[in-house]
Amino acid sequence: TSVDNQQQPPKPKQRNLLDNASNLLTNFLSGGGLGAMPVAEGAVTDLFGKPLFFSLYDWFLEHGSVYKLAFGPKSFVVVSDPIVARHILRENAFCYDKGVLAEILKPIMGKGLIPADLDTWKQRRKVITPGFHALFIEAMVRIFTRCSERTMSKLEELIETEDREQKTIIVDLEAEFSNLALDIIGLGVFNFDFDSVTKESPVIKAVYGTLFEAEHRSTFYIPYWNLPLTKWIVPRQRKFHSDLKVINDCLDDLIKNAKETRQEDDVEKLQQRDYSSLKDVSLLRFLVDMRGADVDDHQLRDDLMTMLIAGHETTAAVLTWSVFLLAQSPTKMKKAQTEVDSVLSNGAITMESLKKLEYIKLIILEALRLYPQPPLLIRRSLRPDKLPGGYNGAKEGYEIPTGTDIFVSIYNLHRSPFFWDRPNEFEPERFSVPKKDEGIEGWSGFDPDRSLGAMYPNEIIADFAFLPFGGGPRKCVGDQFALLESTVALALLLRKFDVELRGSPDEVEMVTGATIHTKNGLWCRLRKRT
Ligand code: HEM
Repeated sequence: TSVDNQQQPPKPKQRNLLDNASNLLTNFLSGGGLGAMPVAEGAVTDLFGKPLFFSLYDWFLEHGSVYKLAFGPKSFVVVSDPIVARHILRENAFCYDKGVLAEILKPIMGKGLIPADLDTWKQRRKVITPGFHALFIEAMVRIFTRCSERTMSKLEELIETEDREQKTIIVDLEAEFSNLALDIIGLGVFNFDFDSVTKESPVIKAVYGTLFEAEHRSTFYIPYWNLPLTKWIVPRQRKFHSDLKVINDCLDDLIKNAKETRQEDDVEKLQQRDYSSLKDVSLLRFLVDMRGADVDDHQLRDDLMTMLIAGHETTAAVLTWSVFLLAQSPTKMKKAQTEVDSVLSNGAITMESLKKLEYIKLIILEALRLYPQPPLLIRRSLRPDKLPGGYNGAKEGYEIPTGTDIFVSIYNLHRSPFFWDRPNEFEPERFSVPKKDEGIEGWSGFDPDRSLGAMYPNEIIADFAFLPFGGGPRKCVGDQFALLESTVALALLLRKFDVELRGSPDEVEMVTGATIHTKNGLWCRLRKRT
């Protein structure tokens, strides 16, 4: 199936007065509870053949911004409205936990930030967030550059060996981005060089095996792996546990080493934020040095594992879709390359030059709008709540009983015809900072004053219509890390190569687990630029 065909949603139905009146009446009669919500009846076939978030989009256009999705006895509330999303993610965030997602991820991430219970989360978030401060990010730019250059050199060498005459090569860029993102996250988070760009190793295989299983679990709707004995009987579960052991052993060694090599000298440098003379600038070093010996090894391992998984596929995916979109638009590609050539003319990438790669950053954000990673945020209510109303006739909002499973569909929000002009078109320019009082084209409710000082168009500026990194207290801790990492990698790719898709865009099929990725790779023709 064609991505483009799948991308074109039907026009939203105009709701007439009668619809609204009947919605209001039902809402009133059932007291505004879940019973009042429009219901989309999911068929089991909706779960197969195409990613679930496509069906959620069709039902959004049909049933409105908050509806109940019923699969037999199981039901989910699907939210595609910014005010309701803001309520769940920010205003009443602690009324919700990660529900189904935590059940899936706990065996892998333990008590890491993503699946953690609220008490553990509060403690760890306070410790981890300072690790991502501005000087750490600045030090990371050196790692992003070194790793991206290694990838570019490998691609250049392949061209030299495979097609010297034409100076072209066909490669699966999704696989290359995946290796690159793994190398960066390894070095940045725990100072371990996977070097997956140039070699294979048991740890790399184990990481991919674990990611594969995490994806399988997120698309498999019955958690059979919790049944007794599956760990020993089901071959893929046996493999999963042996992969997990390989990674955990590696992380345990790194933690032990970080603790044994802790030096007061380095702690002083860290306290003074003097990163220039530190050999190891990783997050692990920060967590061990700043907290001393009191850090619990097991918790630390869960934190590292969470970062490894959260920061790897997501970044690889945004790079993949950025190239996919850009390769279909020669004018935008040219504009991007012109910016890269002029900003990076002297070769070096610094924090200053990164700030000037404005168009590259917008390309990445626009790719995240069209292909959000993950496309759905998952929550479960810990106590009763009431959602705000005001849309689709649900004037009073809906009551949410304890234990309700909710999908906040970022995909629907980002492609909502109610908030974006030409929602399915790739238009990085839509984010250009507006002149005062003009507002961003395609943005509703934009307040230019609030954009001052923001590093990128984010959920605050867009009032929750744009959630590239989530929002509220559980917003991504690695947003700046990821944005700069992707900017460096894309800029260095475009500086060295002209990139075209190998075939038609229609051949690139989508699949989803936690992120949206391609079914068979992003095969591109790279030509060395002169
Ligand atoms: C959370 C997106 C890269 C670490 C999140 C959330 C989103 C997100 C949407 C919120 C999830 C929710 O509310 O349920 C992304 C995207 C990335 C990216 C699109 C890349 C383009 C990274 C990186 C790291 C990271 C590089 C670490 C180095 C985390 C962690 C959380 C998180 C630890 C959980 C935060 C918490 O619950 O307190 N990410 N992320 N992410 N992300 Fe990222």
